Amino acid sequence: MLKNKLILLGITGGIASYKSAELARLLVKEGANVQVVMTRNAEAFISPLTMRALTGHPVYNSLFDPAHGTATVHIDLARDPDLVLVAPATANILGKMTAGIADDLLSTVLMAVKTTKCPVILAPSMNTAMLQNPAVRNNINVLRKRGFIVADPLEGNLACGDVGKGRMVEPAGLLELVKEELAAREDLQGLTFLITAGPTRESLDPARFFSNYSSGRMGYALARAARERGGHVILISGPTVLEPPSGVDFFPVVSAREMYDIVMEKLTLAHIIIKTAAVADYRPEETFPQKLKKGDDLILKLVRNPDILKEIGTKKGKIYLVGFAAETENILDNARKKMEEKNLDLIVANDLCQEGAGFNHDTNIVSLLYKDGSVESLPLMSKDELSHQILDRIKKFRKK
Ligand code: PMT
Repeated sequence: MLKNKLILLGITGGIASYKSAELARLLVKEGANVQVVMTRNAEAFISPLTMRALTGHPVYNSLFDPAHGTATVHIDLARDPDLVLVAPATANILGKMTAGIADDLLSTVLMAVKTTKCPVILAPSMNTAMLQNPAVRNNINVLRKRGFIVADPLEGNLACGDVGKGRMVEPAGLLELVKEELAAREDLQGLTFLITAGPTRESLDPARFFSNYSSGRMGYALARAARERGGHVILISGPTVLEPPSGVDFFPVVSAREMYDIVMEKLTLAHIIIKTAAVADYRPEETFPQKLKKGDDLILKLVRNPDILKEIGTKKGKIYLVGFAAETENILDNARKKMEEKNLDLIVANDLCQEGAGFNHDTNIVSLLYKDGSVESLPLMSKDELSHQILDRIKKFRKK
């Protein structure tokens, strides 16, 4: 189950760091791609060369490594891992994480990782007296409350000669924990999501089209979140500048009619359909083969595009159907009307007039309207975070 998973392994300076080599070996053996970040103190215990040989990747240990292509190595490393594991985690790194200190590569990477997106496991290892120190105990409690997973140290013989609690969980135990955490995040496995995103473009002539301000961010964030949680994702997108998330089946389209065709073709594959796309309701009746020349006032006739969501609503069967409503007034009433007209299970209403909501932002502010008439209003949050919240609700309310 670790095949193709990117695991960032942080190693800090404790005697247990020799076990990190075995841990890396086990992770690699299970198919994981392991990227190691070591602190300077860790290098006093174990050589980066060992870790490089075991993982097949260079080891990162500096914020300012000229060999790294960009100056933001900490952000680059924090962006993509499926899981972060710090083993061993010394009292020092726990203290820095709790206090918000980022003074080397590992502590800076840990500050940039979002625990909502990627599980972070900490495997403390230290002398019993240190572990019982109120500061360390407090730090562990605080980190747990912030969403970090702490692998409780074990009792046994310690390197200093003492016997007591403080031994790092053995590599095999940590491997199991990694698998459990990844499995828990893959809660949407077995489900196929059909997600539409972005605007559509309705061509007038070879130089002009009608469209809207949708950037595709909301739909791509949903596709990414569903994929991260193990769902199979079919992403059908109008033109955007975004890279499709990795691992999704991607179908680019331009016009509403193209979107209609591919949605109808894929419909029966989906357990859940989320229509985030801002589909143009109208298109020019005529598309001109040559660029229109300037002349007198131009009168164009626009004709209705198919309402894709409405049509899905008539044939949805067991599919859980989620629509979006982009509104500028009477938000909840208009959204409720759309929900009923289009036979939706859930509608996500955003008010385009609210700062930070709707088109072209990285954030959104929405209300979720459910079939039973209830409404849940969510505060401003990133489209990534909102996507996970929407998926949580779908998981809760969808009948199998
Ligand atoms: O892409 P971003 O920049 O991140 O912006 C996100 C967003 C504002 C586009 C998104 O949050 C959003 O609100 N999407 C729906 C936009 C919209 O078209 O709303 P609507 O109220 O016009 O349509 C209601 C629903 O019917 C939508 O799910 C839409 O996909 C669907 N529809 C509309 C018209 C049509 N012809 N066919 C459809 O399927």
